[in-house]
Amino acid sequence: MDLMNLAPGNSPQARSGVTFFRAKDELRAALAEARDAGRSIGLVPTMGSLHGGHLSLLRAARAECDVVVMSLFVNPAQFGPGEDLDRYPRDEDRDARLAAEAGVTFVYAPPVEEVYPEGFSTRVEVEGLTEVFCGDPARRGPGHFRGVATVVAKLFNTVGPDIAYFGQKDAQQVAAIRRMARDLDFPVRIEALPTVREPDGLAMSSRNACLGPEDRKRAVALSRALRAAERGARADSLGAGIEAARHELEAAGIEPEYLEARDAEDLAPVAELNGRPVLVAVAARVGGARLIDNVLIRP
Ligand code: PAJ
Repeated sequence: MDLMNLAPGNSPQARSGVTFFRAKDELRAALAEARDAGRSIGLVPTMGSLHGGHLSLLRAARAECDVVVMSLFVNPAQFGPGEDLDRYPRDEDRDARLAAEAGVTFVYAPPVEEVYPEGFSTRVEVEGLTEVFCGDPARRGPGHFRGVATVVAKLFNTVGPDIAYFGQKDAQQVAAIRRMARDLDFPVRIEALPTVREPDGLAMSSRNACLGPEDRKRAVALSRALRAAERGARADSLGAGIEAARHELEAAGIEPEYLEARDAEDLAPVAELNGRPVLVAVAARVGGARLIDNVLIRP
């Protein structure tokens, strides 16, 4: 099949050197061929608007897998009413170019009705991990992670990856997806990669584009606070670390939605460092953007 001869809008379609798929059956057929030929498949789920964090996942997949699939889907199911679904930044041409440069083989960029056809009514709910932090009903609520788990389960079924790559930036998402993969017997290895940061420490995020110049400067307080938390926890106590972090945020005029320490795996509350990895996570609204960040304190 000569992909270059397909009219725009058809699927699959060659763009910037990667093959774009809109339809899951066509992607599945292409992947079945690769699998039959004994090639390993890596999946990097994204909502596009690619930055250095996404690129680090794509490069890791490229280094380990024969075929790299990047999904590009702004998933309406994980946005609550009044959240930024309509304002979420989208630039498919730029994403296609960056994906090609990072060595992506296939981009799966389905329209909403391909993922959620008329009558779609199944949800994946990971209980216990998704009611805290961002899943607190007073914040984004468990519906956010229900939307994430549902779409990631569908992507796992469509792609059948050997390895799927996620960012530790979204630590709660990683914990929920690991649990889902284990509970539902998805035969996939979940890789969580370190948070990629701007030179001043701000965690890269598609939402950083919503920060004005003053808020961009203030936003650095989140990563500074987390470093203070780790320092304080190691030198003194977890409580002292959290207090030091709170001071850093206050000094920047930032009121956190949450700033909490929890077990990194089951997200149970922890009072002290206890020989298991502890996650300190923060969320805060800075100007027009809701930002999250975290530090993993390893024993
Ligand atoms: P998105 O926000 O586009 O992020 C895609 C992947 O990139 C996620 O695994 C996220 O944790 C990772 N990522 C984001 N910022 C990062 C950074 N600074 N460093 C390292 N990795 C980073 O997360 C989602 O999309 C969606 O919830 C998705 C999993 C695609 C399901 O819709």
